[in-house]
Amino acid sequence: MKIAILGRGKTGSKVAELCSEKNISHTVFHSQNPLTESALKEHDVLIAFVPGQVMLDYLPLILKNPLPVVSGATGVDFPDTLDTSLKEAQMPWIQGHNFSLGMTIVKKLFDVMNKAPILFEDQWQATIHEIHHTQKLDAPSGTALRWGEWFGHDCNITSERVGDIVGDHAFTFEGPYETISIQHTAKDRRLFASGALWAAQLSGRITAGFHWFEHLATKELGL
Ligand SMILES: NC(=O)c1ccc[n+]([C@@H]2O[C@H](COP(=O)([O-])OP(=O)(O)OC[C@H]3O[C@@H](n4cnc5c(N)ncnc54)[C@H](OP(=O)(O)O)[C@@H]3O)[C@@H](O)[C@H]2O)c1
Repeated sequence: MKIAILGRGKTGSKVAELCSEKNISHTVFHSQNPLTESALKEHDVLIAFVPGQVMLDYLPLILKNPLPVVSGATGVDFPDTLDTSLKEAQMPWIQGHNFSLGMTIVKKLFDVMNKAPILFEDQWQATIHEIHHTQKLDAPSGTALRWGEWFGHDCNITSERVGDIVGDHAFTFEGPYETISIQHTAKDRRLFASGALWAAQLSGRITAGFHWFEHLATKELGL
C-alpha cells in the first residue's frame, strides 16, 4: 500500500512518522508540495489532515482521480452531493471527527446512560467542556458536538483554547445527589495518526461512498 499524506502539520507529521516506523511507503504533500493529478495516480490511498476549506478546495481534483480517502479535516460542511459523487467515482471516503478508537467506547457509555430514564427526571443538568490547543480553528470541536448528539438531551457545550492541548472532552451530568462524568483525554496526536492508518487499511474492504469513521469502527470492533 502506498499512502499519499496531505498535510505535514501537527497531525499529518505523526501519520508520516508512523508510516516510517511501520515501513509503509508514503509521500507527504503540503502547501509547498501540493497534491496533483499524477501524484494521486501513483498512490493507493489518501490520508488528509488539512484545514476543512483546503480539503473542500481539493475535492474536484480528488473526485477526478479516484482513490480511497481518509479525511480528518474538521470545521467544514461537505456538499450534500458528496456521497453520490463518491459512489459514481467508485471510491470510499472515511471521515473522522476523531480518529480515536476509544471514542467508540464513549459512544457505548452514552447509549447505556440514555437507557436509564430515571436520569432524565427533574433537576439534572448536563454540560460538555472541551479544551484544545490555541491553533484549533473550529469551536466547539466536532467531537463535543457529536457527544451532544449521542446524549440527545439539553446540554450546554463550552470550549477553551489553551497551549498545545491535544484534545480534552469532559461530560458532566449533575443530579441533586450525585454526578456522572465521562472524560476523554487525547495525550498524543499519534492517537489520531494510528486511527487514520487503521482506517486506511480498512478502506480497501468497504463500499464506495461516504462513511463516518466512528460507525465503521463500532462495526469492526463488534461493539
Ligand atoms: N479527526 C481527527 O481525529 C483530527 C485530529 C487532529 C486534527 N484534525 C483536523 O485536521 C486538520 C489539520 O490539523 P493539524 O493540527 O494537523 O493542522 P496544522 O498543524 O495546521 O497542519 C495543517 C497542514 O495543512 C497543510 N496545508 C495548508 N494548506 C494547504 C494546501 N493548500 N495544500 C496542501 N497542504 C496544505 C499545511 O501545509 P504547510 O506545512 O506547508 O503549511 C500543514 O501541513 C484540522 O482540520 C484539524 O481540526 C482532525
